Amino acid sequence: MNVELRYFSGTGNSYKIIDTCKEVFIQSDCEVSLFSITDIANINEEADIIGFYFPVYAFGIPRICGQYLLNLPNFKNPINTFILITAGDPEEAGFSVKESTTILGKKGLDVTYSAVIHMPANWTVSMNPPPKKEAQLIINTGVNRAKEIVPDILDGVRRQHTFNYPSRYSKFGFYKDYYMFKWLGVSNLWRDFRTDETCDSCALCEKICPTSSIQIVNTRPQWFKTCEQCMRCVNYCPQQAIFQKGTGSIKGKNIYHEPTFKPLKTKKHNKTNATDVTINAAD
Ligand SMILES: Cc1cc2nc3c(=O)[nH]c(=O)nc-3n(C[C@H](O)[C@H](O)[C@H](O)COP(=O)(O)O)c2cc1C
Ligand code: SF4
Ligand code: SF4
Repeated sequence: MNVELRYFSGTGNSYKIIDTCKEVFIQSDCEVSLFSITDIANINEEADIIGFYFPVYAFGIPRICGQYLLNLPNFKNPINTFILITAGDPEEAGFSVKESTTILGKKGLDVTYSAVIHMPANWTVSMNPPPKKEAQLIINTGVNRAKEIVPDILDGVRRQHTFNYPSRYSKFGFYKDYYMFKWLGVSNLWRDFRTDETCDSCALCEKICPTSSIQIVNTRPQWFKTCEQCMRCVNYCPQQAIFQKGTGSIKGKNIYHEPTFKPLKTKKHNKTNATDVTINAAD
């Protein structure tokens, strides 16, 4: 079987899950093509199975993932398609599955399977991610879940994640956060990034940003509007120097990225075409 897998990942959770699934597909004699959506736009339209792996951002999928799905061609054959969403709280995946399945259905794909996998929360500017040991336990459980899901997909099991309102939120609070991030947050929060005096101009943040939204200008990083709020720069900065105006310093917080995820940009920086960037996360 020919399996096409695509992902977006800020801090490596979605990458960990896709990489785990890839191994299980290969052990089951499948041929697997695995790419970040920031690397490659097309998908083999003759594939037997297509899978997407995205994180949830404020109860929806990241803007870049929605744009990617909308730009897919209309498929002539209804290929078996699945969606796996990684979430800091599986109760708080919101509309992320629904957003994806709606677009994919319109593209002519048959979404046979969708699920939300709990992975450590990474929105460090807004909350405190779990400490390392707790995070690793969550990762291990997520990885085991991914290993169980692949055989179901290969067996043609049809299963859909069902939407729920998060119990911590009122309906008003839920819709407010969902629409605020979608219509105002992601397009404006890049303006709020700051660095404190501990930034030593190492430029790691510029090198690893998956959307090329950072450039070092006069020794300090400057952010651009293509930022997806993926939190990679924040969580990988060796000095914990990056924060957002409004929420304040992250010093003293647990920073988080999936421990085996090593992002590396391999193409030249090009901020005018922010999606034309290759991230090689494999290690
Ligand atoms: C901007 C932003 C918003 C987030 N919103 C949610 C959310 O609404 N619900 C949730 O369960 N997790 C949320 N998270 C946590 C991530 O979905 C979770 O940590 C995910 O596994 C990260 O995947 P990645 O490492 O592949 O980027 C959010 C993270 C970020 C950065
Ligand atoms: S990674 Fe951190 S220390 Fe390095 S340039 Fe960026 S903000 Fe400064
Ligand atoms: S600027 Fe930072 S938060 Fe924004 S997309 Fe790049 S790495 Fe992610």
